[in-house]
Amino acid sequence: MQLKIAILPGDYIGPEVMDAALPVLEAALKRSGHSLAHSTHPVGGAGIDAAGKALPDATLKACQEADAILFGSVGGPKWEKLPPAEQPERAALLPLRKHFQLFANIRPGLLPKALLGASPIRPERIPEGIDLVCIRELTGGLYFGAKRTTTLEGGDVEAVDTMVYRKSEIERITDVAIATARARKKQLLSVDKANVLECSVLWRKTVTERVAATAPDLTLSHMYVDNAAMQLVRSPASFDVLLTENMFGDILSDEMSVVCGSLGMLSSASIGTGKNRHGFSFGLYEPAGGSAPDIAGKNLANPCAQILSAALMLRHSFGLHAEADAIDAAVRKTIADGLRTADIAFGAPSVGTREMAAAVLARL
Ligand code: IPM
Ligand code: MG
Repeated sequence: MQLKIAILPGDYIGPEVMDAALPVLEAALKRSGHSLAHSTHPVGGAGIDAAGKALPDATLKACQEADAILFGSVGGPKWEKLPPAEQPERAALLPLRKHFQLFANIRPGLLPKALLGASPIRPERIPEGIDLVCIRELTGGLYFGAKRTTTLEGGDVEAVDTMVYRKSEIERITDVAIATARARKKQLLSVDKANVLECSVLWRKTVTERVAATAPDLTLSHMYVDNAAMQLVRSPASFDVLLTENMFGDILSDEMSVVCGSLGMLSSASIGTGKNRHGFSFGLYEPAGGSAPDIAGKNLANPCAQILSAALMLRHSFGLHAEADAIDAAVRKTIADGLRTADIAFGAPSVGTREMAAAVLARL
């Protein structure tokens, strides 16, 4: 199979971790006889600098022609003075998600036993490590509802963001969560704020009905988002598959990542209903940790999130599970062998971005 991939490294640490991850991806494919046809395109601040906008037309076109997008990270101080709607995050990532209807964001939170010390949670609370998945709705809610800022009579200023959800949007993300839970422990936790928000009332009702109608084999439970945020630090190991809406998922997945050691380990897959040339989900794969301007260009960033995102791409957009498993295992072995980038070293000796990636490649 030929994998046609649009590579969008983006800004700050984006290109560094992308450069580190690509040889790992290439090696995993070469072993099994598949070929990679990739092209690299500017996005985010790099898009603004190269073509005057965060998502240049040529970049979007390349994405449309590809089987999948491997994304780095965008944004940073260089473009912070631009009007909010032109900033890299809002003008590149969100339109890409919306354009390709990538409504399902899958974020695995994995803390292997070998990394227990990297978690801020006391080791005795997580003796077996942590292994959960956050399924976040990605194209609805507060992010995409109507927005405005108005100056009122008398001079006060009012800003409005609107949270909107349709039953059909909740049903389709619930289906992704059901499939995920079925492949794991058959437990599904839906997180909402149904004691306050109309959207959450609809969310809870829809998830409940969908699971009852199509997945009676699953155990479904519900939690308010404030309680979920608390339980995630109190007993993270009790979580398995967590389903939630866009904004709550943004917040809880950052919390999840740090509970699991580091944002530098958090990979993600964003998929929708679109299919690629091979009949698998078209998707965008990105580390969820951001562009980290403070450590950019210093060979300090953890490349694992980018490498693990490439593995998610092999799984979801190409059905290459053995190759994805091999990459996951190589990352786990690298960690188990004691290699650490600074974010997960906590004062112990650490290696750089390139060395960490080379260690993963060697184990692969
Ligand atoms: C994420 C990021 C984005 C989001 C930002 C960069 C727009 O925080 O993917 O979690 O809020 O979705
Ligand atoms: Mg986020």
